[in-house]
Amino acid sequence: MSNVTIMDHPLIQHKIGIMRRKTTSTKEFRDLVSEVAMLICYEATRKLPLADIEIETPLVKTVAKEIAGKKLCIVPILRAGLHMADGILNLIPNAKVGHVGLYRNEETLEPVEYFCKLPSDASEREIFVVDPMLATGGSAVAAIDILKKRGISKIHFLCLIAAPEGVERLSAAHPDVEIYIGNLDERLNDKGYILPGLGDAGDRIYGTK
Ligand code: PRP
Ligand code: URA
Repeated sequence: MSNVTIMDHPLIQHKIGIMRRKTTSTKEFRDLVSEVAMLICYEATRKLPLADIEIETPLVKTVAKEIAGKKLCIVPILRAGLHMADGILNLIPNAKVGHVGLYRNEETLEPVEYFCKLPSDASEREIFVVDPMLATGGSAVAAIDILKKRGISKIHFLCLIAAPEGVERLSAAHPDVEIYIGNLDERLNDKGYILPGLGDAGDRIYGTK
């Protein structure tokens, strides 16, 4: 699929390997979520347009580059996306942040929306939707449906771990969205969890359950 990038960087693979271990502490897990998000963001922003800008160094006038085009906005899917957003803000500190709140109904596995707050100029921005897990794809598809209904058109989706089922569902529903994946795992189990996965990302970030 041409809209899907699976990261093969050794640092990402190494860090995700630590996250998968059941012995990894809540603090370490949380820190790794934002570190891996930063590394994926590095790749997801590779095609941002640049413009020339005249500047003065301490020695001479010269032409430097600055990021041009649409302003950026990060949209974490609550809860687990929040720590990805924190990591990405280290790289793009001036981005605005919108929030979409969704949780999966544990029986139907379908997403339930409970919150949406976006910057007022969100439709003029390039959007990075972030969620560590792309499992059935229901949450990602629903979040992007919500954004498109509000007139947002330029959307990227970043996740740490994806199941093939989720990638297919998201690509089919939103073929225009660029998808960046830290690691593509094997499959879903009968409860909709990614295998081998890392468990419930929200619970591991916040120490709940
Ligand atoms: C998790 C995860 C995704 C969703 C992925 O969230 O963070 O949002 O599940 O599953 P899907 O692809 O099958 O929709 P969860 O619903 O557990 O909510 P939480 O972040 O509040 O823990
Ligand atoms: N949500 C998670 O947090 N983990 C999974 O494996 C699937 C959905």
